[in-house]
Amino acid sequence: MKLLQDRIRQDGQVLTETVLKVDTFLNHQVDPMLTMEIGKAFAQKAESAGVTKVLTIEASGIHFAMATAFTLGVPFLYAKKKKAVTLTEDLYTTEVFSFTRQESFQVSVSKRYLNAEDRVLIVDDFLATGDALLGLVEIVRQAGATLVGVGAVVEKSFQDGRAKLEAAGVEIHSLARIRSMSPETGVTFIEETLT
Ligand code: G4P
Ligand code: NA
Ligand code: NA
Repeated sequence: MKLLQDRIRQDGQVLTETVLKVDTFLNHQVDPMLTMEIGKAFAQKAESAGVTKVLTIEASGIHFAMATAFTLGVPFLYAKKKKAVTLTEDLYTTEVFSFTRQESFQVSVSKRYLNAEDRVLIVDDFLATGDALLGLVEIVRQAGATLVGVGAVVEKSFQDGRAKLEAAGVEIHSLARIRSMSPETGVTFIEETLT
């Protein structure tokens, strides 16, 4: 997605060779016009897949799920993160290890809002180590729902998230795939898209 790649080049801040800061437009201050275009791009990819629900994880996936679900005309659902869930009877839950925080947390979704009839499109801001996204895939599996695919706004292709998701049989659609980055030279994308 050219609009997104251009914006990452212009306003993204490469902190280290693995961390990209995008909090002037993607995940702290948010550009709503860009967010809607991102939602349209995900929706277009999934147009003929009969999606019934868009699923993300709090916090920084929520506005992308909103934009995607709005375009598709379906509800979106965001998984909640908790240190530990005690009453799990009415919840699908799974444990996720956060590489960034070096600790585990529980991801949960109410059983009320996801079932075997659902066709789910997962979206999130970053595809990095893939652990958070694999947690969402596991929740879809627990519900017996059909996973249509995963949409990532930014994929850091030099990390192993894509490989892990592909090994789980997941179809991935990333709007900006970063091949490499450094504070000195900036960001290099895998596909330099023209449109
Ligand atoms: P993922 O690949 O499935 O997202 O899992 P991972 O455990 O690698 O990512 C952990 C968290 O770090 C995620 O946010 C993810 O969006 C974020 N993240 C990963 N790489 C970068 C990066 O280069 N820049 C920024 N800004 N964020 C990155 P989270 O823990 O779900 O927190 P939240 O921000 O959504 O609340
Ligand atoms: Na996230
Ligand atoms: Na994040």
